[in-house]
Amino acid sequence: MRWKFNSFFTLGLLYHSAVPLPSKMCSIVKMTDSSAALVAAQYLKKGCVVALPTDTLYGLACDCNNSKAINHLYQIKNRDSNKPLAICVSDITDIPKWADIHNISFDLLAELLPGPVTLLFNRSPHLNLELNPNVAKVAVRIPDHAFLRQLLKLMDFPLALTSANPSNEPSTLCISEFKSLWNQLGVVIDGGVIPNPDRFGSTIIDLSETNYFSVLRQGVCFDKILKILNKYNIVERKRLHSSE
Ligand SMILES: *[C@@H]1O[C@H](CO)[C@@H](O)[C@H](O)[C@H]1NC(C)=O
Ligand SMILES: *[C@@H]1O[C@H](CO)[C@@H](O)[C@H](O)[C@H]1NC(C)=O
Repeated sequence: MRWKFNSFFTLGLLYHSAVPLPSKMCSIVKMTDSSAALVAAQYLKKGCVVALPTDTLYGLACDCNNSKAINHLYQIKNRDSNKPLAICVSDITDIPKWADIHNISFDLLAELLPGPVTLLFNRSPHLNLELNPNVAKVAVRIPDHAFLRQLLKLMDFPLALTSANPSNEPSTLCISEFKSLWNQLGVVIDGGVIPNPDRFGSTIIDLSETNYFSVLRQGVCFDKILKILNKYNIVERKRLHSSE
């Protein structure tokens, strides 16, 4: 009697827990696990798309030198293939390898980064040609986020990075908000709730033109960023869009 009851109970539990889960599960790893960065790097190097926290929102990332992974990232988000992806590096000294920073000084870069600002430069020939083909500029990010920078140090290439939500849906601050994407990802890194209740993305500044900047999106820390650019005598060219 007792054995029968137990097996019935176990089956019931299995059935119960199987129902709400997607058919193919990815793993979820807590950001605070000591192996989290290593696990994420392994999935990224295999060509998987990984979800991770940043200093602004949850992001989807892949190895920017892996064109198959990039295509998969576009598919997962249902993103317009003409909309370019930003790249993400761990340190300002990595930027000149992937972008032409002309005479922008490291002093200026160090005042802006790491932080919630995306900088546009002309791309360098070292960057994967299949990342944003036919786009002359590349958007570079160094998030002010210890875990993400630790992960980037384990990678040979920058990460292609975009927000963790289907295109035209709200950006996300915790992993349950993009549950519909989990089954297409290699691993989800759970960093808890990101403290950015307004859900602003990074401020996007075009620095590709010597002596001038253009604002492409007014996001987090906008005024502070303008002050820094003014301090270095870089002049605003024109305001294209105040938000996106
Ligand atoms: C980067 O991508 C290019 C083009 O696919 C490939 O030829 C090259 O081997 C890759 N580099 C590394 C280190 O994986
Ligand atoms: C960069 O070059 C421009 C013109 O070539 C010059 O006016 C400007 O002062 C230079 N900026 C720096 C930081 O050297």
